[in-house]
Amino acid sequence: MHRFRDLPSDLFDGKILVDAMNYWEEIDGIDEDLTTAPMGTSVVVQQHFPLARVVKSLNHLGYFKFDQGRRPRGAPDRLAMAAAGNDSDAVAAVMRLIDRLGFDAVNAGSLGGGIALQPGGPVFGMGLSAEKLTRLLFLGA
Ligand SMILES: NC(=O)c1ccc[n+]([C@@H]2O[C@H](COP(=O)([O-])OP(=O)(O)OC[C@H]3O[C@@H](n4cnc5c(N)ncnc54)[C@H](OP(=O)(O)O)[C@@H]3O)[C@@H](O)[C@H]2O)c1
Repeated sequence: MHRFRDLPSDLFDGKILVDAMNYWEEIDGIDEDLTTAPMGTSVVVQQHFPLARVVKSLNHLGYFKFDQGRRPRGAPDRLAMAAAGNDSDAVAAVMRLIDRLGFDAVNAGSLGGGIALQPGGPVFGMGLSAEKLTRLLFLGA
């Protein structure tokens, strides 16, 4: 994540940009903007790419669960992944992608809602059904 600012700010103009990055101090070093981001790190990413259609997603499951957790639609043990963004068409597109990848898709609201998906958030790293993921995101339990 510490290298995203190396990329030109107009690189993703008009494009859907899936922010799957997680900020880890141990890996990324101390970055004041990311550490203190009150609306989550994706809002900082959006500031760097102002014309990109940023969606926070694909970040809250580790690669093992991502790889092993894929299931066809309707499977009883299908896991869910969330998507958060301010552009509703972009979020809808990412939700379709999540479904094609083999997960139920949950709309986590605005980009600032992505804070719940990042390390330290209530759903980070957990393999959850859509119902449980939605409950944790919106009801906190
Ligand atoms: N691993 C997981 O389970 C997981 C799950 C969810 C989210 N994430 C998050 O996803 C991000 C990447 O994690 P990772 O485990 O995939 O890390 P990684 O294995 O180190 O991969 C990082 C990738 O980014 C590329 N890269 C870095 N700087 C670049 C630049 N300036 N231009 C173009 N490409 C660049 C690297 O290319 P080179 O190899 O050529 O340097 C490498 O392919 C992290 O923020 C991580 O927290 C990881």
